[in-house]
Amino acid sequence: MDKVIIFDTTLRDGEQAAGGTLNIQEKLDIAKQLEKLGVDVIEAGFPISSTGDFDAVRLIAKEVRTPVICALARAHPDDIDQAWEAVREAEHPRIHVFLSASDIHLLHQLKKSREEILEMSRTMVARAKKYTDDIEFSPMDASRTEPEYLYQILAAVIDAGATTVNIPDTVGYAIPAEFGSLIEGILQNVPNINRAIVSVHCHDDLGLAVANSLEAVKRGARQVECTINGIGERAGNASLEEIVMAIKTRKDFFNLTTNINTTQIYRASRLVSELTGFLVPPNKAIVGANAFSHESGIHQDGVIKMPITYEIMDPRTVGIPASSLVLGKLSGRHAFRERLAELGYSLSEEDFNRAFNAFKQLADKKKEVTDKDIESLVAEELRTVSEVYHLDRVQVSCGDRGIPTAAVRLIAPDGQVLADAALGTGPVDAVYKAINRLVGVPNVLTEFTVKSITEGIDAIGEVLIRIESEDVTYTGRGADTDIIVASAKAYINALNRLLAAKKAAG
Ligand code: KIV
Ligand code: ZN
Repeated sequence: MDKVIIFDTTLRDGEQAAGGTLNIQEKLDIAKQLEKLGVDVIEAGFPISSTGDFDAVRLIAKEVRTPVICALARAHPDDIDQAWEAVREAEHPRIHVFLSASDIHLLHQLKKSREEILEMSRTMVARAKKYTDDIEFSPMDASRTEPEYLYQILAAVIDAGATTVNIPDTVGYAIPAEFGSLIEGILQNVPNINRAIVSVHCHDDLGLAVANSLEAVKRGARQVECTINGIGERAGNASLEEIVMAIKTRKDFFNLTTNINTTQIYRASRLVSELTGFLVPPNKAIVGANAFSHESGIHQDGVIKMPITYEIMDPRTVGIPASSLVLGKLSGRHAFRERLAELGYSLSEEDFNRAFNAFKQLADKKKEVTDKDIESLVAEELRTVSEVYHLDRVQVSCGDRGIPTAAVRLIAPDGQVLADAALGTGPVDAVYKAINRLVGVPNVLTEFTVKSITEGIDAIGEVLIRIESEDVTYTGRGADTDIIVASAKAYINALNRLLAAKKAAG
């Protein structure tokens, strides 16, 4: 059976999504999870775009050894040299060169002729080839490029050494049957196409990214570029989990496989959502909270009698933890450690101890601690590992008569205990004002969302916020059974990221 190469671009195109900035450690954590997931290629970033991106690609290239580590470059000498510098220490390095190909882009953006573009593509691929054998080329906006011209470009770059030719539907304009025919046309009309893998990269502007990618695979493409949770520029990219599970679940139709360890999908989805701050909608296929929950009585009846009646996939194959009630306040370290292992966590002793203490505190407040609670508390504890300011205490007074008031105590980086109080329009506003008086970093709150992670009146509430400072957005998350405390934790988390980024930038 043929294999489809899974090329993950969560850390490049995914991170391009508005408000999705990740720091270097977060990128490394995601890359490690992608390695566990079994992706074949990780596009780790666009090294010329910033020193932060360059450093992240270089670190991932050094630390993540199994997949191919790919760096993106425009068809400019400096981009290519910089991309190579970033990936040169990878076990399997790849340089991905891209250049617009459609007349729309040539005329209105690049102001270059078709001949000039052809020549640049050829010479820049040849330049990259001097560094490494594994070269990918993307003619940007391929789906709006005249096919005959596209064939010429592809033949030229393959002659110059490209081993993968990627066909991007950059603006999400293609329709499945049409995109499939384009792929078939390439396979039939590019004379040296047998020397390269045909790849596709689809955007979701019309909600067709996954459908277009699958149609392309059906017609002969053997690499798909995709992202966890489908995040990416504008409406996003094709979602990795949907592509992989479609190929797996409908093996009878595709007769294809991937190298993906599907039981790591859910962990990857949670991690990316957690670190980027992009929440997964409940109805999202494969990884949404409702993807495997049956509400209608008829469906429930069927699933109880035989899951296959209404369930085309077993939730365990994508690593969704069983929603059974697992632990309570009498559970000890051993039971907690075992449950963590079953959920796929391997924590250091120090992290385990922090998580266990948090579990005990939660079990005092909440009778039944579920798998989702455990996931949330582990994420919360790991979030506090690299913190600058630590939230020590928060107390509010509010109601429909008095003026909302908050008192906050923080531990500063030098261990000093700082305390202050403030009034606000509501309890969260008062808490944020009190924190501002202590930390003193100007910023604007641009987004504030609260959701409950588990069911019930004693559920853990999770707060997601975004703040903006000097045109950069920082995400913060916090979870607690008290949503005011969760809000304070989220704000401290965002401020800590802001301060760490400023420190790293010097
Ligand atoms: O959407 C696009 O065309 C891209 C290219 C860089 C492959 O992201
Ligand atoms: Zn893209």
